Amino acid sequence: MTKPLVLIVDDTAENIQVLGKILKGLSCNIAVAKEGKTALSIAKSKVPDLILLDVMMPGMSGFEVCQELKFDKVTKDIPVIFLTALSDTKDIIKGFRLGAVDYVVKPFIPEELLARVTTHLSMSQDRNTIVEQKTKLQNLIHMLCHDIGNPTHAIITVLELLKQNQLELEESVELIDESAQRTVNLLDVIKQFMAVKSKGLDTSIVDLSMSVGEAVKGVRFRLDEKEMDIIVNMEENIHVWAEEATLIHSVLVNIFTNAIKFSKNSSNIWVECIDNTSNTELIIRDKGVGIPVNILDKLFDVDACTSRSGTAGETGTGFGMPLVKQLMATYGGELKVLSSINEPSGTEVHLIFRKHNHE
Ligand SMILES: Nc1ncnc2c1ncn2[C@@H]1O[C@H](COP(=O)(O)OP(=O)(O)OP(=O)(O)O)[C@@H](O)[C@H]1O
Ligand SMILES: [Mg+2]
Repeated sequence: MTKPLVLIVDDTAENIQVLGKILKGLSCNIAVAKEGKTALSIAKSKVPDLILLDVMMPGMSGFEVCQELKFDKVTKDIPVIFLTALSDTKDIIKGFRLGAVDYVVKPFIPEELLARVTTHLSMSQDRNTIVEQKTKLQNLIHMLCHDIGNPTHAIITVLELLKQNQLELEESVELIDESAQRTVNLLDVIKQFMAVKSKGLDTSIVDLSMSVGEAVKGVRFRLDEKEMDIIVNMEENIHVWAEEATLIHSVLVNIFTNAIKFSKNSSNIWVECIDNTSNTELIIRDKGVGIPVNILDKLFDVDACTSRSGTAGETGTGFGMPLVKQLMATYGGELKVLSSINEPSGTEVHLIFRKHNHE
């Protein structure tokens, strides 16, 4: 995590030095300004986590600086602590009225200053986390409304056309089935994602070759649809640390499904296993359309929109890869994706597992 930034604003060099010395014990970066205008420009460009602001300064007073900070969208939420030589309650109240969160009286008592700065820094960090989580949740809700909204509207439209005898029953059933399936798939992936995030998983020793076999069976109908095959080149009895059900149905099935989705008809997928000294690496290779850099960069970002239609118009949620990444991390392993959209295009997914050694 990056260290928080504290901006000290005081016209007296000696005060800046004293404050700098006291704050040295905290794990934070320090910026300084000797007058109001500089303070405002630093605040706007660097957006510090906390500002220690002297009240009495030539030119702009601390009160004026605070007022301007609170006026600007970028700086309005930065907590301000006034540094005051005045024990005049009127000024302290004025500071609070202008939006300050606290005040410290000069000469500073180091323990008091440290306690106040620490409290406000930690409150400021909590606030940032809450804002981040709120944005993530909003994005998730946006995406849910969008992705569930589309197939639901499709169902309503098909039913409407059916009522008006403008569609055959068989075709309608097929269209409704497809849309309903898409909604259920989306909800399933989100549920899995939430479950892994909150509960974690119990890992155990899993037979990797057998899991690959099961996952191939699971995507057989998709392979047949595109006249494709998965060519597995690995020994039997290779064991790794994982959780079997999620490894087969979430990790492998998703990677195979992606490889099928983004390959042209009659192309194959290759699976190979490398037994390294410290880990076991499973490589899934396709000769499909490849992943453009803008998608590759955000492949594991739940909030980013990475989902594209497959070569036969297949749809998805864009949740698959973030889930795979999360699961691999839970198994104590990792995931790497290499891809090229230039000829010969294709994608390689490397699943790196913690190895299980037979005694
Ligand atoms: N093997 C691949 N070849 C080409 N593009 C890929 C491949 N794997 C992933 N992608 C790209 O990354 C995107 C995100 O993949 P991810 O598995 O996260 O979601 P999805 O496949 O779109 O949806 P879902 O997994 O829910 O069906 C895909 O839509 C595609 O654009
Ligand atoms: Mg997928």
